[in-house]
Amino acid sequence: MRRPRAVWTPVRRLLSTARELRVLGIETSCDDTAAAIVTSSGRILAETNVHQHAVHEQHGGIVPGLAANHHLMNLPLAVRSTLEQSGLRIDDLDAIAVTRGPGLPASLSVGVSAGKTLAAVHAKPLVGVHHMEAHALMARMESAHVRFPFLCLLVSGGHTLTLLAHQVNEYSVLGSTLDDSVGEAFDKVARELRLPWVDAQDGGGAGPALERIARQGDPRRFALPVPMDKSASARLLDFSFSGLKAHVRRMREAGQFSPASPQDQADVAAAFQHAASRHLAKKTALAFKRAREMQVEVTCLVVSGGVASNLAVRAALEDVARREAVEMVCPQPRLCTDNGVMIAWAGVERLRLGLLDPYTIDFIQRWPLDELKRMGYERRASSF
Ligand code: KG4
Ligand code: ZN
Repeated sequence: MRRPRAVWTPVRRLLSTARELRVLGIETSCDDTAAAIVTSSGRILAETNVHQHAVHEQHGGIVPGLAANHHLMNLPLAVRSTLEQSGLRIDDLDAIAVTRGPGLPASLSVGVSAGKTLAAVHAKPLVGVHHMEAHALMARMESAHVRFPFLCLLVSGGHTLTLLAHQVNEYSVLGSTLDDSVGEAFDKVARELRLPWVDAQDGGGAGPALERIARQGDPRRFALPVPMDKSASARLLDFSFSGLKAHVRRMREAGQFSPASPQDQADVAAAFQHAASRHLAKKTALAFKRAREMQVEVTCLVVSGGVASNLAVRAALEDVARREAVEMVCPQPRLCTDNGVMIAWAGVERLRLGLLDPYTIDFIQRWPLDELKRMGYERRASSF
């Protein structure tokens, strides 16, 4: 399909205007249905986030079909409510950004269809956003100190990554998980401990439930091994969480703790959180070493993604940043977990560089972050 001139000529004009740009972001990659409108100076004009914790808790994990059905029901209302809060109409927006991947196919497809339909009908530029790039860039909206290149630890339900962010759209992955992500491990250990997910204070979720109970626990009572801390694997930059999770399961099966005892629950949660945080910290320190070997001088450590809202994880990474004499920047907890603001902001960053997408894009289920550069430059070259 050829791009209509009516859209692309104003885009060029738009990028040279001095006024603030306004971007609508849509996020449906997993189980949160979120929308937000953000300006190019980083002001959040409106945001809506509809959680599905209560839907999935009874199944002990996210059920993809149910998640997609709830996105179908919630997204029209989330977009409408966001527009109403902001007092804007779609015609007042400068672009529509939507999470294109990676994520659950059925969930992604709801947001991508909605985003491209809205953009096409209203003749607005469309930005297809890589979910993990959005987590990484979130810190740049919140803090002017985050300049490229920076080192980034992304810790979510689907990923555990250390990467060098060279520029918008340009990343080198240094370390990744060999098995489970850290978020998955938090969720599975929470399940081993039979922790309820839903909590009125923090909106719910298995990871926050584990963090909450760990506050009452003693991390030394059950000494859990820090993963990949011995011999050859201690030098690897990758992560592994399945052994830690299995260790907790074996302890329960051997009767070493009882999920029915609140003190046992708290002590195991604290021990797990401690070992997981140490593992993240040690591998991030190795990533700094690798960056030095690559002669990339970073001035900042960004920690983002859902697990970065965990205070014990943040504290462990603060220590690494202090030792490396760099500043650590973590988005505020509610902007670490999935949200529409991060998609809208990634939309702003990409729109500024003219990294736009045609209305024909589809979602991408698996999408390595370091592939972005090749795709983006081709796209930019053909957009103008
Ligand atoms: O980034 P995110 O919201 O969604 C994905 O992109 O996956 O991350 C979700 C993950 C879930 O595994 C959730 O349990 C975990 O982040 N999480 C936490 C905390 N808040 C969210 N894990 C530990 N402590 C928390 N406070
Ligand atoms: Zn995420």
